[in-house]
Amino acid sequence: MENKDLFAHKSKSWDMSSRRVQNAKAIGDLIVKNIKLGKSMQVMDLGAGTGLLSYFIAPFVGKIVAVDSSPSMLKEFESKCDEFACKTEVKYIDIVQYDEPDSYDGVISSMTIHHIEDIPALLKKLNRMVKEGGFIALADLDSEDGSFHSDNNGVFHFGFDRHKLAEYAMEAGFSDVTFSTASTIQKPHGDFTVFLMTAKK
Ligand SMILES: C[S@@+](CC[C@H](N)C(=O)[O-])C[C@H]1O[C@@H](n2cnc3c(N)ncnc32)[C@H](O)[C@@H]1O
Repeated sequence: MENKDLFAHKSKSWDMSSRRVQNAKAIGDLIVKNIKLGKSMQVMDLGAGTGLLSYFIAPFVGKIVAVDSSPSMLKEFESKCDEFACKTEVKYIDIVQYDEPDSYDGVISSMTIHHIEDIPALLKKLNRMVKEGGFIALADLDSEDGSFHSDNNGVFHFGFDRHKLAEYAMEAGFSDVTFSTASTIQKPHGDFTVFLMTAKK
């Protein structure tokens, strides 16, 4: 990924899209339904951005560590930290450069992994960073034709094939890999489904 902040021109108005808020809420609701969360848990929100997903998970965990490589998006996250129903910490870092073994009870993520080139390496890293018995809950687009984003700069994957992603997760050491459909994003030129993949270490 380039060093340039690809989200700088979008960060201020990011939360003004009701489509984005509804998508994050649907993903958050599904995570809460599928994963046993608790107030003693420390969870990483990978590519937390302005905190849309974190906001909906915050009432159910003790602390969220927001990891993001975009300073402008994390600035928006920080501006509303006080309104989150759990402790928060922000880490301005590219996940590719970050490694802290056995430090999280789980990793949540919304609409981020298509920005990360090497998915098998990412899943191996997340497996290292999650404690024994911990979880991942990653949401992103199902395979699409490349028309979801109006600008594909920084987009490494046009969505994901669920079977392939499940294989990568199992190769990385995760078990109990499950998929469900979290939401459908409607755009004028078509509908795009968003999956939630959950797995255990
Ligand atoms: C499409 S936005 C989603 C933001 C938020 N999760 C949401 O659902 O509104 C993707 C986010 O992932 C971040 N991101 C992309 N590549 C990353 C990387 N390698 N490491 C950390 N964050 C990354 C971007 O900076 C951006 O904030």
